[in-house]
Amino acid sequence: MVEVLDIINLKNWIVFLLAYLCTLFILLCYACIKGHCGSVLSVNSFCEVTFSATRRSGDNVISMDKAEHGLLLHEAIKLGDLHRFNDLLQMPNLDVNMQNEDGDTPLLTSLKHAQSREFIERLLAAGANVTIANNERITPLSFAIADSFDITLLLLEKCKDTEFLYEMKLSVELHQAVKTNTCRFITFVTNLRLDNEEIVLFIAASNSLYSDNMAIRELNVFLDYLDTADDMGIYDFYKISSVLLRGSLHLDNSAVFKAIWKRVDHTYMTYIMPFLLWEFVRNCEYENSEFIECLFSILTSSCASKLNVNYRIMYALYSMTFYEDLFGKLSSKDINKKERIRILLISTQFVPVSFDDVASAYDHFRFNEEVIILLRHLDPTLRCCHSRQFIFMVELENDEKFSVDNLNRLDFIIRACYRKLICNAPQEVVGCFRTIKLKKQMLSEVPRLFELSVPVSQMCIQKFYNIHDRNQFDKIVDNLCIPNQLKRNLRYEPPLDFV
Ligand SMILES: *[C@@H]1O[C@H](CO)[C@@H](O)[C@H](O)[C@H]1NC(C)=O
Repeated sequence: MVEVLDIINLKNWIVFLLAYLCTLFILLCYACIKGHCGSVLSVNSFCEVTFSATRRSGDNVISMDKAEHGLLLHEAIKLGDLHRFNDLLQMPNLDVNMQNEDGDTPLLTSLKHAQSREFIERLLAAGANVTIANNERITPLSFAIADSFDITLLLLEKCKDTEFLYEMKLSVELHQAVKTNTCRFITFVTNLRLDNEEIVLFIAASNSLYSDNMAIRELNVFLDYLDTADDMGIYDFYKISSVLLRGSLHLDNSAVFKAIWKRVDHTYMTYIMPFLLWEFVRNCEYENSEFIECLFSILTSSCASKLNVNYRIMYALYSMTFYEDLFGKLSSKDINKKERIRILLISTQFVPVSFDDVASAYDHFRFNEEVIILLRHLDPTLRCCHSRQFIFMVELENDEKFSVDNLNRLDFIIRACYRKLICNAPQEVVGCFRTIKLKKQMLSEVPRLFELSVPVSQMCIQKFYNIHDRNQFDKIVDNLCIPNQLKRNLRYEPPLDFV
């Protein structure tokens, strides 16, 4: 009997214990749902608790002082808590530039903790100052420049206070560094291709993380400064401009180049940067249309022929002519034919053409407009590489287009060009090919009147109907009231679009 009672008691105890545990568990869950979890469970950090406190007592918030909010903002940034960060930014009495014990502003804290652009953008929109230095003389701007090009651009584009860009004066140290060419420049183009595009120049001496070793100015303001500073001569001005111009070639846009090119005397610039054309053709990384536009402005400037003479000095060192470099660049950038022709028509006015140049055009673009334009300006007396010519001739001999059987079918202009090519090729090279003698004979026959008239007729048709592409041309010729044989002749090798 006693034993039975004991068992019943034990059962009751177990039921009681279970019920107690369940209640405890439900209470715990309730507490968590209510958001008091932080204070019941482990407390992660001081600020977690503080935040819960601010949330609960909404009325006390207004009475907290600015400094306190500012510090909370720092904490929210360090934790990457965007939600709390946004809440705090909405507080009416918040100092968005509140410095913490290191003197960091919330913006600098965001940069140091590599927080997302969202934090930075919101702070800037709230009026965060980019030039407030901390105890170590580091400002958000100087930190960003040392850290990331993109974030610097963001700061410059979105900060509200850009007065510093227009200050004329530089510190004595920076001025000295500029004058002795011991400073570093970085350019940022803000709001690229928009109405408010601006070129911002970062000037730094020694460790630019410290705000007193760096300055940041709008490019023209800086150039004005150089222009007017007492101890800067014209040579200093051009020297520094050339450094900026050279550096700008590696950017993906031409804003800096254009701004400087517009300000300088081109002839004078040639003395400071004798290899400008060479540097431009080889190093320029602008986007295609800007590359062409700037190259065009160099080639049409008063210093173009002088620059070309200097290019030949570089040839002695690198064995690459202007055209060889140019064609390499044009094809690597995949610049369209119309632009290629535009550049060639200008450059052939003053850059002599050698056989090697023609061979290079053929390598890149086959026997087309480029080769034809170059052949018009070919100077057979220019030095060229015979082994290269030999390879070129072998390629041409293997080209079906120029086989003996095909020769008579070639259009008049191509024939004339091909003839010029083989008649002027170095004798040692041509002598190696049996067929060339025969070809020369064939090509030297006086062209029939009909042959002469074909290109002229083609050009007339093209002009009359304002034709720009091959399909259009074929269609129009098909519709002409002329015998089919003539149509075939007209359609074969239609006019080149630069004629
Ligand atoms: C930003 O901070 C700098 C440095 O403290 C100060 O000179 C400048 O006036 C401030 N800008 C604004 C808009 O308060």
